[in-house]
Amino acid sequence: MPRFETIDTLSALKESAAGTRVLVRGDLNVPMQDGVITDATRIEHLRPTIAELTKRGCKVVIISHFDRPKGKVVPEMSLRPLLPFLVEIFGAQEIAFLENPLGEPAKELVASLPNGGIALAENLRFFAGEENNDEKFTRALARLGDAFVNDAFSVAHRAHASTEGLARIMPAAAGRSMQSEIEALETALANPERPVIAVIGGAKVSTKLDILTNLTAKVDQLVVGGAMANTFLYAKGVEIGSSLCEKNMVAAAQNVMSNAAKVGCKVILPSDVVVAEQLKLGSIGKTVPISAVPPNMMILDIGIETARVITTKLANCKTVLWNGPLGAFEYPPFDEGTKIVSRAVAELTAQFKLRSIAGGGDTIAALVSADALTRFSYVSAAGGAFLEWLEGKQLPGVAALYG
Ligand code: 3PG
Ligand code: MG
Repeated sequence: MPRFETIDTLSALKESAAGTRVLVRGDLNVPMQDGVITDATRIEHLRPTIAELTKRGCKVVIISHFDRPKGKVVPEMSLRPLLPFLVEIFGAQEIAFLENPLGEPAKELVASLPNGGIALAENLRFFAGEENNDEKFTRALARLGDAFVNDAFSVAHRAHASTEGLARIMPAAAGRSMQSEIEALETALANPERPVIAVIGGAKVSTKLDILTNLTAKVDQLVVGGAMANTFLYAKGVEIGSSLCEKNMVAAAQNVMSNAAKVGCKVILPSDVVVAEQLKLGSIGKTVPISAVPPNMMILDIGIETARVITTKLANCKTVLWNGPLGAFEYPPFDEGTKIVSRAVAELTAQFKLRSIAGGGDTIAALVSADALTRFSYVSAAGGAFLEWLEGKQLPGVAALYG
């Protein structure tokens, strides 16, 4: 595949970039509570691109969605309340707001921005054309810019006007955050240093089946943890007591294991587990070998022996991909397995022995609580997009950048 353009290579941004109008797709879909952003990571990720473009004198128009208004104006989902936060995070003097990004007034406002000025367009999902990737809508939006920079990997799994359509009709490049996401993910799966090990946890096989199927074909070892592992154990005839288990996924789990065996991918399941009668805060767990789970108890974490097996394997690998917790990590002490293993990853990474890539909703929270996250080589800010990438799917927003 040819490489995609970046803000270093796109000619519209190289020669006489000053005054060039650039549409920058960010993901401003940040969690908010009572008008305050509770996690600004996605905005922080946008900062390098905004800083570089404004420094070159480009007129930057930030475009994004917020939540899911489904093609209608929903005032609570306006992007306007984000303005003061953006001003602060980007260190801008002021940011203009384009209430209706499609009209002539918006075009005039952008033209009147000083070089290096910034405007923010209203939530694009207020227009049905955004999610429909409607050509007319895309063309109307394109009139606001001379070039398009996509810096929103976390929305790249959507084929929308502002993620896919614009890249097809304008000179387009990946922003810094998009660029580092693609590069990190490519080094992890497309051409990784081997051996590669994947650590996949979570509650349900059903939500991760495509990931497991894709990974068995690509990685050398696959650790299955979390309640998901119970279904695998059950499929192997292990007595799992009152553990969470998706009995309708038994055949699927068997398939994953037999496919893995065919291609020489080693599947690692718990050999000992922490069990308790109930999942609640303050439950006291006991560690038992996998062959001795009492009928009235449920598996809530991997045991210490399993954690040791996994960390030994990690020490012999060059790349690790991590998604999902290994136990019921929201209920200490059942976070212990995730903690031990993620800290081992962090340590090996810090010693330059392992390249570690993590991503996906629950994962970040689990690694933060283990105090391991910051030492991983790369942590994706994306939820759904990261998971679809792990499934081996082509992400429309990324594919469009490759042209
Ligand atoms: C996200 O929150 O994962 C992205 O912003 C994409 O949002 P969506 O799932 O509503 O498309
Ligand atoms: Mg969402």
